Amino acid sequence: MDKVLEHILSRSPRPQSWGRVLDAGTGESSLAWVSRLPCSDWTAVTADESRAQGLRGRFPPGKNRLLVGNWQDPQFLERETFDVVIADYLLGSCDRYAPHFQEQLLERLLGVCRGWLFIVGQEPWSRPTNPAQRCLWNIAQLRDAVQLLLDRRPHRELPQDWVERQLARYGHPVNWSERFENHYDQDYVLREVNAIEENLHELADKGLAQLLRRRCHTLRQANAAGVYGWDYLLAVNVAQPAAIDRPPH
Ligand SMILES: C[S@@+](CC[C@H](N)C(=O)[O-])C[C@H]1O[C@@H](n2cnc3c(N)ncnc32)[C@H](O)[C@@H]1O
Repeated sequence: MDKVLEHILSRSPRPQSWGRVLDAGTGESSLAWVSRLPCSDWTAVTADESRAQGLRGRFPPGKNRLLVGNWQDPQFLERETFDVVIADYLLGSCDRYAPHFQEQLLERLLGVCRGWLFIVGQEPWSRPTNPAQRCLWNIAQLRDAVQLLLDRRPHRELPQDWVERQLARYGHPVNWSERFENHYDQDYVLREVNAIEENLHELADKGLAQLLRRRCHTLRQANAAGVYGWDYLLAVNVAQPAAIDRPPH
């Protein structure tokens, strides 16, 4: 169960009723959560056809919809609105599918929302301050480097503060927010390094791939258990904007 989204159910204020729900950047975890909500129907969006196929197998849509589309397309869902919109780690992955579109993406999400918008993101890591964080940092750097070598754009997470400022600029300051410390263990290290090694199979330069495999081997040995950074959950009631605190004149 998605521990961050689950938190919405215990916080106030929150939606009185769920109505039409949009999972604007869907995946196994958010759709598992959304598909259990007492909503009238859900729509889930991904930019990735192969991801959509996998999800359709696990969550047969029935009266609901699982759509492949890109928020950069101005006509995509342009005439629809939803009571609740979930953007679960969507902003961070946007650069892969719609480079430099994060600001307009927020505008699009506000445009299709007539009730509550919930945004989940990962705060970009600050520089490491201990050996475990250094190991996690090195893994992330290698992961992104391999993505670039494969001509793909890596994820680009955005700071909570940046997202909050954009929302306020659009006239929708957050109603409430939460932070969740991120704990990493050796299983996480193994999963990440294994995923990097998988990607190395696609590298045309086999010599470079071999060299980077050695780096993977070293990273796998390091102990990276510890706390690093946080995830955030932002709640915005689009129907009833929160008051913005303005300094007195
Ligand atoms: C990292 S995944 C989100 C995690 C997901 N909520 C889960 O539960 O695993 C990002 C999702 O957002 C989608 N996405 C990213 N940028 C997009 C865009 N510009 N338009 C539509 N979908 C996008 C991706 O295709 C993917 O389905």
